[in-house]
Amino acid sequence: MSANEVTHDDVQEFYGEAAKKPQADLCCPTNYPIEDTSHIPQEVIDRFYGCGSPVGIAEIKNGETVVDLGSGAGIDCFIAAKKAGAVGSVIGIDMTDEMLEVARKSSEKVSENLGYRNVEFRKGYLEEIPVDSETVDLITSNCVINLSPNKVKVFQEMIRTLKDHGRILISDVVSEVSLPKEIREDKQLWGECLGGCVTENQLISYLEQAGFYGVEILGKTFWKTVEKINFYSVSVRAFKHNKSDKCVYEGQKAVYCGPFKVIIDDEGHVFPRNEEVEVCSDTASKLSRPPYKMFFNIIEPDDKTGNSCCTPGANGLSDSPSCC
Ligand SMILES: C[S@@+](CC[C@H](N)C(=O)[O-])C[C@H]1O[C@@H](n2cnc3c(N)ncnc32)[C@H](O)[C@@H]1O
Repeated sequence: MSANEVTHDDVQEFYGEAAKKPQADLCCPTNYPIEDTSHIPQEVIDRFYGCGSPVGIAEIKNGETVVDLGSGAGIDCFIAAKKAGAVGSVIGIDMTDEMLEVARKSSEKVSENLGYRNVEFRKGYLEEIPVDSETVDLITSNCVINLSPNKVKVFQEMIRTLKDHGRILISDVVSEVSLPKEIREDKQLWGECLGGCVTENQLISYLEQAGFYGVEILGKTFWKTVEKINFYSVSVRAFKHNKSDKCVYEGQKAVYCGPFKVIIDDEGHVFPRNEEVEVCSDTASKLSRPPYKMFFNIIEPDDKTGNSCCTPGANGLSDSPSCC
């Protein structure tokens, strides 16, 4: 690490100040629907420093365990708390005491408004998430990963803490090109969620290297231009799947239903439209779940009906059956 690199301490100092005194226009805040935020105290809303709406598009189910990384004053945790319901649980992780203080104080009011308590805030780093392995259904993060000095570790930690088939939904700022040293070493620009940005391709590559699959860009909007470089806010979803030690073929076949003529999955399997392709049990398990479920028909060895029609969904996350 060079002497000029931005550290956790620099970011903590920046967000300690932003917790004490709200800063309009820091990061690129999004507007949330009023029905999602009506139970949340104003001091939290005033300290919303996100750049997207990961909890709004994560399709949180009742009873899920959600972890929000870099939870700040807690806005996304409190929205998730409403969506996950009384039997769900939400854990916000942040390293900055001043942010945790606002979030913990506000959680009293939120519990009162919701009629149940399912949120807690833990002090910790994204690079060392204080959560047990394989216990989380969904990880969200809103304008935070760009602030980490060790992004590879953050994605490894996400994989560690997620359950098998768990998912992440992150909104973050990306840069059009790799950033020059002068921008990366500027503490103010780093704090403003610009100096620590990587490109969209680099972000996807981090996810793939950590072992995520089904990576999908769900949204992208222009944020601003600094030093002639364009910055964008992107929302990305990806899934975890625990691979078994050996590939076992049990006679299962996958049929890709379209709309494209042919597609290739993350492991290089090729699926021409409407053709039966023999797959191993790992691949069959993956293709029969989101985000692929809506596009495949899995034929079990004892299934006499064979290939049948599919009902593709809008975003592949729906629980409705893939075939009629
Ligand atoms: C831009 S704010 C976003 C806060 C919140 N997600 C929101 O949308 O309002 C970034 C937050 O992430 C926290 N943070 C940044 N880097 C972190 C790290 N490496 N580990 C833990 N927290 C971190 C900061 O303390 C700050 O509260």
